Amino acid sequence: MKFLERTTGYGVKFFLRTTNGGYGNGKYGIFMQSIYIHIPFCVKKCNYCAFASYPAASAAQEKYISVLAKEMALRRNFPAQTLYIGGGTPSFLGAELLEKLLTETEKNFGPIKNFIESTFEVNPESVTEEKLKILKKYGFNRISVGAQTFDDDGLKILGRAHDRKTFFDAYDKIKSAGFTNINIDLIAGFPRQTFEGFEKDIREIISLSPVHISVYGLQIEEGTKIFETGFNPDQILMRKMLEHARAALQAASYKHYEISNYAKPGFESRHNNNYWQSGEYIGLGFAAASFVNGKRFSNPENLEKYLENPGKPEFEEVLTGKEKLGENIIIGLRRLDGIAAADEIEKNFGREIKNLIAAGMLEKAGGKIKLTEEGIFLSNEVFENFVAPFYET
Ligand SMILES: C[S@@+](CC[C@H](N)C(=O)[O-])C[C@H]1O[C@@H](n2cnc3c(N)ncnc32)[C@H](O)[C@@H]1O
Ligand code: SF4
Repeated sequence: MKFLERTTGYGVKFFLRTTNGGYGNGKYGIFMQSIYIHIPFCVKKCNYCAFASYPAASAAQEKYISVLAKEMALRRNFPAQTLYIGGGTPSFLGAELLEKLLTETEKNFGPIKNFIESTFEVNPESVTEEKLKILKKYGFNRISVGAQTFDDDGLKILGRAHDRKTFFDAYDKIKSAGFTNINIDLIAGFPRQTFEGFEKDIREIISLSPVHISVYGLQIEEGTKIFETGFNPDQILMRKMLEHARAALQAASYKHYEISNYAKPGFESRHNNNYWQSGEYIGLGFAAASFVNGKRFSNPENLEKYLENPGKPEFEEVLTGKEKLGENIIIGLRRLDGIAAADEIEKNFGREIKNLIAAGMLEKAGGKIKLTEEGIFLSNEVFENFVAPFYET
């Protein structure tokens, strides 16, 4: 299960880096395919972030976009229904480079307006009317914006490049530009954040009424500034925060549809749902991961290597048998409506599932296996039961 191991915590990094989109129920079902494009630049490195991202001068950005264009040409015409341009900070690109990126994307994968879902990730400090106009012109239909918190002290602790006012100005601009399908990211459990402070963030996000909200419990990643301080999140407090988010957002008619994600009816992330249903995707750019024809592969995590040889994966893996099934279970259980209780699952993991049901972490109902409320908050403990060598062979 190397692919999951290298992506920390069976999930957060992998799912954030390679996904960010999805589908609701049905029409496109398991036949969805997705394209993720990674833009690794940021104004500055946030204190908690271990994603492939870094500040870069304009010459380095230009070089990256031209290398990315070469990689896109290698994957030309990959037939996808969702597109996600994420980072890093895609909105960090200036208007001219942004146009270049989008022209190349269309040259290789067709008009952006033809994707059923096309998401562009922005950071508050680099949102401008000019860039939003460009995104509208190309037909993007979804914007994801990272707030993390609305509290100025919290933003400083997190090392964000924006303050509260900058977020609210950016959010107004995004809405004024005509975008209605908007996601906002929040983080729970950062240093010196109190329960009351988090409660206020949840109140404010509900009053902004975005159709999609992601709430992540802070993960301490090696190599980050927060890691170096030795900060250890108070797990009891973090759980209390995440339980509060679940209750308050559900009361405000958001569906808690994935461990970290909430949506108003009809606005689940199609792109991410495709990942969680083990659909195919290609990831383009530095450190991006793909899954096509049963094979997982990912680009080098070393920027120089990627730039020298775009499209040459550093890592490849084909999972088969019980290992593949275990991974599909882990990925599928992230969605709170669960996975079908298929015979194959019973045959291979009947014992683990029985134990997890007895421990109150999984439940079976209506032909499905899903996380219980307890299981949602202890999902890593659930998932490790489906990873070799933890399960019984
Ligand atoms: C791909 S990241 C970057 C998005 C964008 N550059 C930003 O900063 O808003 C997407 C989200 O992952 C979350 N995230 C990143 N690092 C995290 C960590 N160590 N723990 C929890 N959430 C994290 C943040 O909420 C962030 O908005
Ligand atoms: S802006 Fe986003 S991607 Fe960049 S360092 Fe901060 S969290 Fe990471």
